[in-house]
Amino acid sequence: MPADNAPSAPRVLDVGALPTLEEYGYTGGRQSFHTFCERVFAPGGPRFLRSADGALAVFRHADIRALGAAPDMSTLAPAVLFPGLLDGPTPATDRPGFAVADLLKNQLFTTNAPLNPALRKVLLNQIGPKQVAAQADRTRAIVADLLGALPQGVPVDFVRQVAEPLIGRFWGGLLDMPDDEAEAAAVEARQMSPMLSLRPDPKAGADIDAAARAYRALVQGAADRALAKGGCPFVAGVARDLSAIDIGDDLGHVGFVPKSAGAFLSGNLFDGFHTAVLGVANTLYALLRRPEVLEEVRRFPEKAAAAVAECLRLEPPVIQLSRLTTAEIVYDDVVIPKGVLVTIMWGVGNHDPSAFPDPGTFDLDRPQQGATMFGGGAHICPGRFVALLAARSMVEVLAASEFNVAPASDENYWLSGSAMSQLVHLPVFLEKTALGAAS
Ligand code: HEM
Repeated sequence: MPADNAPSAPRVLDVGALPTLEEYGYTGGRQSFHTFCERVFAPGGPRFLRSADGALAVFRHADIRALGAAPDMSTLAPAVLFPGLLDGPTPATDRPGFAVADLLKNQLFTTNAPLNPALRKVLLNQIGPKQVAAQADRTRAIVADLLGALPQGVPVDFVRQVAEPLIGRFWGGLLDMPDDEAEAAAVEARQMSPMLSLRPDPKAGADIDAAARAYRALVQGAADRALAKGGCPFVAGVARDLSAIDIGDDLGHVGFVPKSAGAFLSGNLFDGFHTAVLGVANTLYALLRRPEVLEEVRRFPEKAAAAVAECLRLEPPVIQLSRLTTAEIVYDDVVIPKGVLVTIMWGVGNHDPSAFPDPGTFDLDRPQQGATMFGGGAHICPGRFVALLAARSMVEVLAASEFNVAPASDENYWLSGSAMSQLVHLPVFLEKTALGAAS
C-alpha cells in the first residue's frame, strides 16, 4: 500500500469527459477571450478543457509552457492538416482547399524534426534579431510616411491604412517588391483569414483559395524575380541555405521541403503578412484604451518595447493553435495518450494570475519572462523579431510625433469565432497634440 504522502500514479486523461471551452464562455476570437480568461482563472477553475473539435485544450501558463515544448507534442504535418488533398496519387488540384494546402505545406508550422530546425535556420538567418534590428530606421520611416499621408480630423481605418501597408512595405523592401504589390499581398493574406475560423464555412472555401493563389503569385513571383535579377540578399540567402538541406519529403509527419526560395517564402511569410498586421493593430487597440501609456513613452522613449510587450500580452493576436501527440506523454499527474489532438491556448496563458499577477492590469514595468504570445519551445515564432519591430516602430513614431491617435468608433470590429484575436477595422482620428498645434 502506498504511504499517505506518496505521489499518486499519473492517470490517463479522459479528454471526452472534460468540460468544454464553450461551457466557460469561449466561442473563439477576441469577443469571448477576456471573459473566458476571467472565468477559467477564477479560484477553483478547471485544469484542462475540451474544444469543440474534441481536442484537449491546454490554457494554464505552466501547462502551456511544459506541454507546448514537449518533443512529442508535434505540429500537424501537411497530410494531417489537409487530409486527402496532397497525399493522393495525384494532387487534388481542383478540390476546395487545395491552393491553401499547397501554400501551407511549405510552412514551418507543418514540419517536425529534423526538418523543422533546418528550415527555421533558413528563415532566422534572414530575420534573426541582428538582421531585423538593421531594418529599424527603414521601418520607422515607413510608419512616418503612412501617418504623414493620413488626413486629420476624419476617421481613418488604422488596420487598412496603416498596419496592413506598413507590414506589406516591410516585406516588400526585403523582397524587392514594389509597394503596391507588397500592400496587395497583405490584403490577400487578410482575405485568407476565414481559414482561421473555428467553425469554417464551406461556402468561403473558394474565396480563401482565390486569395491564397493571389497572395502566393505576388510573393513567390517577387522572390522568383528577385532571384533571377540578382542583387537581393534576402532571397539569395534563402535560396542558398535551402539548397543545402538534404532531407526527404514526408507529408505524414516530418513535412515537405519547399522546392524554391519563392515557395519557402510565400509559405512562411503568410504569418509575416497576416499576423504581424494583427500585432501592430492590437498594440494600438490596447494603447488607445490607455492614453497615459503613450504619454509615458513620450517622456521615456526607451519604454516603447515594454509597452508593446504588455499590449501584446493583454491583446494577443494568436489565441490558439493545434498540436498532436505522437507518443504517450506522461506529464505531472496525467498521461496524455498518443494520437490526441491538443489545442494550445498561447494567448490565454499570459492571463494566468499564477504567472502574471493581476493579469488584466497594464503594467509597463511587469517582467515578461515566460510570456507565451509567440509560443514557446522548439517552434517559438521565428517572426517575433519582425512583429515586435513593426509594433515598436509604430509606437516610437507616434510617441515622437506631434500626433495623438484617438478612437473614432465604439463599434466592435473583432472577427468572431476565430483562432485569432483580429480586428477587421480600427477607426481612429489623428489629432495634433498641444505641442504640435502650437508649432
Ligand atoms: C504579433 C505577431 C505574431 C504572433 C503573435 C505570432 C505568434 C506565433 C505563435 C504563437 C506561433 C506558434 C509557436 C509554437 O508553436 O511554439 C508562431 C509560429 C510561427 N510564426 Fe509567428 N507570430 C507572429 C508573427 C509572425 C511573423 C511576422 C512571421 C514571419 C515570418 C511569423 C512566422 C511564424 C512561423 C513560420 C511559425 C512556425 C514556427 C515553427 O513551427 O517552427 N510569425 N507564431
